[in-house]
Amino acid sequence: MPEREKLVLAYSGGLDTSVAIRWLNERGYDVVALTIDLGEKKDLEAIQRRALRVGAVAAYVVDGKVPFLRDFVWPSLQAGALYEKEYPLATALGRPLIAALLVQIARREGAEGVAHGCTGKGNDQVRFDVTTAALAPELKVVAPVREWGMNRDDEIEYAREHGIEVPATVESPYSTDENLWGRSIEAGILEDPWQEPPGDVYEWTADPRRAPDEPVYVEIGFEEGLPVALDGKPTPAVELVERLNAVGGANGVGRIDHLENRLIGIKSREIYEAPAAVLLLQAHQALEDITLTKDVARFKDMVAAHWAQIVYDGLWFSPLREALHAFVAHTQRHVSGQVRLKLYRGSSTVVGRKAPDQLYRMELATYGRGDQFDQSAAAGFIKLFGMGVRTAAEVQGKLSSLDLDKLLPGDLKRLTP
Ligand code: ARG
Repeated sequence: MPEREKLVLAYSGGLDTSVAIRWLNERGYDVVALTIDLGEKKDLEAIQRRALRVGAVAAYVVDGKVPFLRDFVWPSLQAGALYEKEYPLATALGRPLIAALLVQIARREGAEGVAHGCTGKGNDQVRFDVTTAALAPELKVVAPVREWGMNRDDEIEYAREHGIEVPATVESPYSTDENLWGRSIEAGILEDPWQEPPGDVYEWTADPRRAPDEPVYVEIGFEEGLPVALDGKPTPAVELVERLNAVGGANGVGRIDHLENRLIGIKSREIYEAPAAVLLLQAHQALEDITLTKDVARFKDMVAAHWAQIVYDGLWFSPLREALHAFVAHTQRHVSGQVRLKLYRGSSTVVGRKAPDQLYRMELATYGRGDQFDQSAAAGFIKLFGMGVRTAAEVQGKLSSLDLDKLLPGDLKRLTP
């Protein structure tokens, strides 16, 4: 009998990946199931047992929460990354870690390749495939859902025929993904971008109308761009994010409705719940506002946009992402201090910030007494600053296409004493 090839499958316990185990078995593969805990609060032991029942030859559960925050989320927070100015990238940041762990287990198991349950229409397939290529080009990647041509009903029938119990989650009209950095929801009625998301879409965040009618203050302490304390107490990363998700969610903060551009050229409508991500990105930005020089801050904005795009596009493990990180890390040396946020019925507002190395200087900024700014220096500076425009006006005449005559009303009244 020929040796059966072995694949390590990213196993969520859902319908797709359960059917995938059996489908791969039928095509001559032994399947090792790998379930990774990124903070989604599932019964992982039950999922592990389920993998074996469905037909896996071995099943692993790995707690990835600490590396997820330390190695993927924190660098992205320091970068200030929001995809298309809206999406904090929860799913996009989880995939490269899951793929890296698949590779590690594949090596340990002597497997020929890895497998995942992504469809051929999304970004996640790209993230898995490209990460595997970057870390272990010798491994093959098998994506059953991309190959089998079954729809949801076919899968349910396949599961029934093969004695695979159908998980209760198939009842949900939505397709979701979640980890510590956020929850992604798509499909169902959300596919119509004219429809307001119904209330049952949300699980982490309260409806702002029903949130407490009292503001809640949160103080976040940062050390070189990383959050290390909550309300003055040093707090480990996982607990800090969990607590911000809880307090933000309870106050209705962190809902995002994004019409986004997928890498593969499809526009899709996605809802996100990401209270901790929204609060931390906001607080981190507030601290950068007071500690970075103007030109570093402006340049870093461009880096952030580019960072978000390549991470979204599955290029976490790439020379460019590493190079951008080197820049970002260098900018964070003075981004230490405290930020105070006020949460109230769906909004979060920065109401205080301070930093030992802050570049904000009261004695320069003040309009009050104790002013140390030499106002007489301003006139000379502005004369030189405006020299280019003055020269252009003198040499080339009219600089603006605006018709200045139209600015004044025709019936302008001139009063005299
Ligand atoms: N559109 C997001 C991304 O590409 C999230 C996809 C998550 N999947 C889901 N079934 N909601 O990162």
